[in-house]
Amino acid sequence: MSNRLAAIRDVISEKKLDALLVSSADNRRYLSGFTGSAGYLFITSQEAVLATDFRYIEQAGQQAPAFRVVRIASSLDWFTQLLGETKAKSVGFESDHMTVSSHQRLSQKLQETPVDGNTVALSPLTGLTDEIRTFKDAEELKLLQRAIDISDAAMNAVSPTVQPGVSEAEVAWRLEKAMREMGAEGSSFDTIVGSGPNGALPHHRAGERLIQAGEPIVIDMGAKYEGYCSDLTRTIFIGEPDETFRKVYDIVLGAQLTAIHLVKPGMSGTDADALARKVIDEAGYGESFGHSLGHGVGLAIHEYPGVGPNSPGILKEGMVFTIEPGIYISGWGGVRIEDVVLLGAKGATLLSKANKIGRGGA
Ligand code: GLY
Ligand code: MN
Ligand code: MN
Repeated sequence: MSNRLAAIRDVISEKKLDALLVSSADNRRYLSGFTGSAGYLFITSQEAVLATDFRYIEQAGQQAPAFRVVRIASSLDWFTQLLGETKAKSVGFESDHMTVSSHQRLSQKLQETPVDGNTVALSPLTGLTDEIRTFKDAEELKLLQRAIDISDAAMNAVSPTVQPGVSEAEVAWRLEKAMREMGAEGSSFDTIVGSGPNGALPHHRAGERLIQAGEPIVIDMGAKYEGYCSDLTRTIFIGEPDETFRKVYDIVLGAQLTAIHLVKPGMSGTDADALARKVIDEAGYGESFGHSLGHGVGLAIHEYPGVGPNSPGILKEGMVFTIEPGIYISGWGGVRIEDVVLLGAKGATLLSKANKIGRGGA
């Protein structure tokens, strides 16, 4: 935690700010250890303050020993009091993580409460902690790997039990139950089970449709462990795969393996995306792969780095992200295969290892 605080203080000083106000729950947790649902961090070069309400005061003291805990009552006095104490004149805030109405309330309070005769400026900033979070430290990698191992094991245990006549919702429940029994605190997002034509909707939610023989089923799920999320997709087929499935599956798997094998630090997210997109384009299915190749994953299910056609940011050693190409055909269904990788100096290491059906086969 102290390294994280030092890293964000470097950013505060680079940006020539006196203080940073952190409002994102994931960033609050990352920097302080506090897991409560409400509160702000106020960080300067000297001060680290966690402001939260009555419900969390004791918990905050236990979870965030490096922070001074102050209580938020019914007004924003806690904020102006901190400005008065620290003499901060320029305060950055996370513009990706603050509602317009919160910002309006803060701005109005600052207008009403000048510090030493001056109105304190609020500067909108993006990135900051979110960018630091792209590099996973050893403790994070341990927790992330546990989340990934749980979803791998649940997928391996449950996918062979999927039979005709079972509903998508039942499959989702079996997966979620298995993950909980294996130690997950919950699912990292609503489990997707897209059977037959539903698989053409990349984020179809598991519903009441009964699975039938002779159709593909896209299963996308993840476990949450100590706040860290896993994200895993497998496409299975009930019965003997037909020619269309073999062809489409083979293209998606080829695209995924190409990206996993060729992605290197120094590439942009766009370059990485292009590795898989080229394979799918050349097979004639470019129009059927309408989403990004992947995304960072950690405390949030979707976080930096971006790995898509419009992701100019550079991928670096220590980043963790998904590689999940797909082909979606309206009326038929879809195939997506998703794994999580850790980028090392020489390339990607697979962190997820759930069984895949054989290339082109069942
Ligand atoms: N299930 C969300 C994703 O794979 O990104
Ligand atoms: Mn997924
Ligand atoms: Mn994903």
